[in-house]
Amino acid sequence: MTPARQVVRRILAGRAGQAQTGAAAYAPANIALVKYWGKRNEELNLPVTGSLSISLGPLGSHVELARAPEPADAIWLNGRRLAADSSFAQRAGAYLDLFRPEADFHFELKARNTVPTAAGFASSASGFASLAKALDGLFGWNLSLRELSILARLGSGSATRSLADGFVEWHAGTAADGMDSFAERLETDWPALRVGAVVLCAEEKPVGSRAGMKRSVETCEFYRAWPGRVAQDLADLKAAIARKDFPMLGTVAEGNALAMHALMAATRPPIVYALPETVAAMRTVWAARENGLPLWFTMDAGPNVKLLFEAKDETGVREFFPGVEVVAPFG
Ligand code: DP6
Repeated sequence: MTPARQVVRRILAGRAGQAQTGAAAYAPANIALVKYWGKRNEELNLPVTGSLSISLGPLGSHVELARAPEPADAIWLNGRRLAADSSFAQRAGAYLDLFRPEADFHFELKARNTVPTAAGFASSASGFASLAKALDGLFGWNLSLRELSILARLGSGSATRSLADGFVEWHAGTAADGMDSFAERLETDWPALRVGAVVLCAEEKPVGSRAGMKRSVETCEFYRAWPGRVAQDLADLKAAIARKDFPMLGTVAEGNALAMHALMAATRPPIVYALPETVAAMRTVWAARENGLPLWFTMDAGPNVKLLFEAKDETGVREFFPGVEVVAPFG
């Protein structure tokens, strides 16, 4: 039995739930303010460090799940049935393999993203989180947030943080089976917080996060400095959130993203996601800040920039970034 199957079996032990005819679930996308970059176990998506994100409220994934009448999985995305050999169907099918009660049990999965695909927010986190919730509903297990976050992690690391709204911390954990590597929602709400997506390029990135972080762990000599940096950034970010100190939140998040991109650049062969437009957007943020606008940014494994600001400054931010798509994470 694979280690991932063993984790599923441990979590479901004693949960003889009542199978339902179908289930629906929703999970929000999230954007990390302190990033996850590097695993200590690739099969279980166990991270080297903790991370902390903000969930994106209405931007996320809806999933409907039922037992398929056909002798194969039927997988739909945004209203279209996918070919069995498409990368989405393959990845979803491999995840569903962990949960089939019998080898001939097949699923009908209908996924719909409200994350605009071109907005540069990853939909894999909300996708696997909503799928874990839908499985819980279909089989009637009644799992806790902690257990669901462990199951979502088996699909994608960042999905661990997509089970709750608001600020979510993913604890790295130290156990070999990852039973202590789960997510928890922080108590603080911050209704004035805004995240802005600046779309500079909607093309597929040259190196995916999965392959990129593996390459950084294996070849970047600065990687050994990363866990210490993350520990400090996590402590500072949690203090900023508790005090609602926005400049401190922005400073930590932007610095952490730049440190991750520095690691990527020092990876061999190098990984550079920034385009000339990305650097121009960063410089615009810095110039706006010099002018007194409290505006910061973060970036993931791609060329698009996400702005961080407060509601009172939205008009000012739009002057610098007229095309920005604004999300209110706390509604
Ligand atoms: C840069 O969660 O996509 O967005 O665990 O291999 O599925 P896998 O990787 P993934 O990596 C996300 C990396 C990141 C930072 C973050 O979200 O914390």
